[in-house]
Amino acid sequence: MNNRLDELKQQARREHVPVMMDSGMEYLLSYLRSHPEIMKILECGTAVGLSAMKMAMVRSNITIDTLEVDPKMAEQAVQNIREAGLDDRVFVHVTDAALFETNQYYDLFFIDAAKSQYRMYLEHFMKNSYAGSVFVFDNLNFHGIVDHPEYSSNRSTLQMTRKIKKFREAILEDKRFETDWHPEIGDGILLAKRIV
Ligand SMILES: C[S@@+](CC[C@H](N)C(=O)[O-])C[C@H]1O[C@@H](n2cnc3c(N)ncnc32)[C@H](O)[C@@H]1O
Repeated sequence: MNNRLDELKQQARREHVPVMMDSGMEYLLSYLRSHPEIMKILECGTAVGLSAMKMAMVRSNITIDTLEVDPKMAEQAVQNIREAGLDDRVFVHVTDAALFETNQYYDLFFIDAAKSQYRMYLEHFMKNSYAGSVFVFDNLNFHGIVDHPEYSSNRSTLQMTRKIKKFREAILEDKRFETDWHPEIGDGILLAKRIV
């Protein structure tokens, strides 16, 4: 199965589908391995289902709701998840993550959808979390542009990276969370554990 996922990852990268960097993925998986109490996961940003499948493969008691706004991408994810035999535990919802409503509680939220919307996702899903739930955010460096805006001359990229920077600064100061910020892992991973 891991070989099949490696092939899918190579294919996704060839087709410019943004999938998580290897070291970021490894960090997330090792966090899941060392926290057996995590069983229910909500992922924002499915793409072709790679990170969802990898997380599901950590343990057979993990179930995942994963949200994807692009129907074509979601269709590929559903097919990949079915082929991997994980469709009884990984559920793809075609929706804007900010509009997804559920009364379920999740142990871990993996936030990897629209980078400029991270604050909105966090506040939206607070009601589905509890003191102890963990939020993991990817791409808080955004290829180094967050800290080095001179690396880009694209206005919309710069607008987005300014938002990421504001979000990063705010969550590091947010008293509701205990945070671990790892600028050196992947594209910048931040883990925020809700403490109140
Ligand atoms: C970085 S990719 C996700 C990669 C995936 N987590 C992985 O590592 O395999 C981000 C995905 O989020 C989706 N997306 C963007 N905005 C979204 C939104 N508002 N709601 C849900 N999904 C969104 C994009 O279509 C894209 O497929």
